[in-house]
Parts: sequence; structure tokens; C-alpha cells
Amino acid sequence: MSFKPLRKAVLPVAGLGTRFLPATKAMPKEMLTVVDKPLIQYAVEEALEAGIEQIIFVTGRNKSALEDHFDISYELEDTMKARGKSLAILEGIRQKPGSPVYIRQQEPLGLGHAVWCAREIVGDEPFAVLLPDELMNGSPGFLKQMVEAYEKVGGNIVGALEVPDSETDKYGIISPGARDGRLVEVTALIEKPARGTAPSNLMIPGRYILQPEIMRILEGQEAGAGGEIQLTDAMAQLIGQQPFHGFTFDGQRYDCGDKAGYIQANLALALEREDIGPAVLAFARELIGR
Ligand code: UTP
Repeated sequence: MSFKPLRKAVLPVAGLGTRFLPATKAMPKEMLTVVDKPLIQYAVEEALEAGIEQIIFVTGRNKSALEDHFDISYELEDTMKARGKSLAILEGIRQKPGSPVYIRQQEPLGLGHAVWCAREIVGDEPFAVLLPDELMNGSPGFLKQMVEAYEKVGGNIVGALEVPDSETDKYGIISPGARDGRLVEVTALIEKPARGTAPSNLMIPGRYILQPEIMRILEGQEAGAGGEIQLTDAMAQLIGQQPFHGFTFDGQRYDCGDKAGYIQANLALALEREDIGPAVLAFARELIGR
């Protein structure tokens, strides 16, 4: 099969991050660091690794630190050079000049609304959506794994991750059809189903490959669960019109918009590091043994 290649990714970063107050009062949630990199950089690196050529950030007020992070910092770089320090640590931050796009959502009306705000830039092309507060730790990255599946089946692909039955009411949930390896046909999608009514325990993490037709559905989308314009409700309407699959993730997801998830991410990624891992492990052991 031949499909339009995936070149663009939308990164919605206009949320208020209320679960992480007071840290997120004046600083964007996506600038919280896991070990030594802000969350937004993990998401950008995952997108670029998957072959994405253009990143569209949907931002809001008080988010200018995100734009600065991906820009040149002359003073910093000149000072580092003058002191003979390597600039290698800043590699991976800069994208092709003129390539990243920043648009404003103006009002945080929900994830579906944030994605719809990118419609003019997305145009008539498939696109990925990555929620940077969800850190997907895997090798290769999750989006790259999803792109490999997309090149086989096309259409729309969302992540599919098993969660305990007691947690299904917190997420968008997949009603599964036929399975083929790591791909599962999606027959329906339900946002935050009431306890005991979930059709499966497969939740949708913050990674999506979507066809541009979703934008027309979002155009007239009413608010859903939590009074927000939900991406899940719009995606549900594509089922039956276009191929729609879930794809299981080979790796670990950390919900860094949640304090406990964020601490777990820091601990897990610190332990993986050659430079600081042994010291962190020794400290963690000592702390637990106390
Ligand atoms: P969340 O559900 O985590 O919401 O959004 P939030 O506002 O960021 O955080 P809390 O719940 O108040 O603590 C998931 C993703 O969707 C983006 C967020 O920035 C995050 O990446 N989002 C959400 C928007 O861009 N706009 C919105 O209106 C809502």
C-alpha cells in the first residue's frame, strides 16, 4: 500500500499543568527536567528520530521558555567556547532554521481543540501528535516504532498500553477487534469510561498518527468528558471511515504531568545513566534500607 509520508508532528503544550502546581505557576510543565533534559526535548528528539521534518508547537501564554530552549543562546555559547567547554550537550536542541512553528491556542479548551489549532499548518497531510508530558522510554523511540507500523497499514494509529482494570476510568480506552502481532484493530474509543464499563484495559498514551480528516471533525466538536473538547471523541468518528489501529508499545511510559510519575521517570532514567546511575542506586538502596 502507498500512503502519504508522515512529515509533521503537533506537540500540544498549552495546558495549564494544574496537577503540578506550584512548580508550573510561572514555568511551563514541559520545561520540567527529567535528569538533565526538559520534557519537551525528549518529545522533540523522539519525533526527529521517527523522521519528522516539521514540529508544530501549540503553545499558550507563559510558555516562551519553550521557544527559547530551541533557539540559539549566543551569550551562553560564546562564554562556553571562550572557556573551552564542549557544546555537544546542546546538540539535538536546534532544529532546521525556519522549521519549527509556534501557534497559540489562546484558551485551553482541551486537547482536541489544541490539535485543531494546528489545522492551517498541518494542511492536507497525515500528522503525528506527541504529548510531551508523557515520557515514552524505549529504543527505538515509540513514534519510530509506530511509523514502521504506519508504513504497513496506513490510516490512523494510536498507542495501546495495558493498564490495571482499576485505572481505566482515567484514560481514553480502546475497544479492540482483531489482533495482528502488535497491531490491534480499533472498533470504538471511549474517553474516561465509568468504572466497570471499559471495553478493555488498553489505554491510549499520548502518541498518535492521524489523517487530516480529523480536523474537519474537530471543527464542529462539542465539549466532552471534563467539559473539554476531546481528541478521543473526534477520533472515534473516524472509525469505520478509515483504517484505525492501536499499536502496543515496547518500552516504558511515565506520566510526568503527575508528581509520582515524574519522580519515577527521574529515578528510572538516572539509574540508566553511566555517569550518575551508580551513585543514585547506592543512595536509593541506603534510603530504602534506613
Ligand atoms: P493534560 O490533560 O495533562 O492537561 O493535557 P494539563 O492542563 O497540561 O495539566 P493538568 O491536568 O491541569 O495538570 C495533556 C496534554 O495536552 C495539552 C497539555 O499541554 C498536555 O501536553 N493541552 C491540554 C493543550 O495543549 N491544550 C489544552 O487545552 C489541554
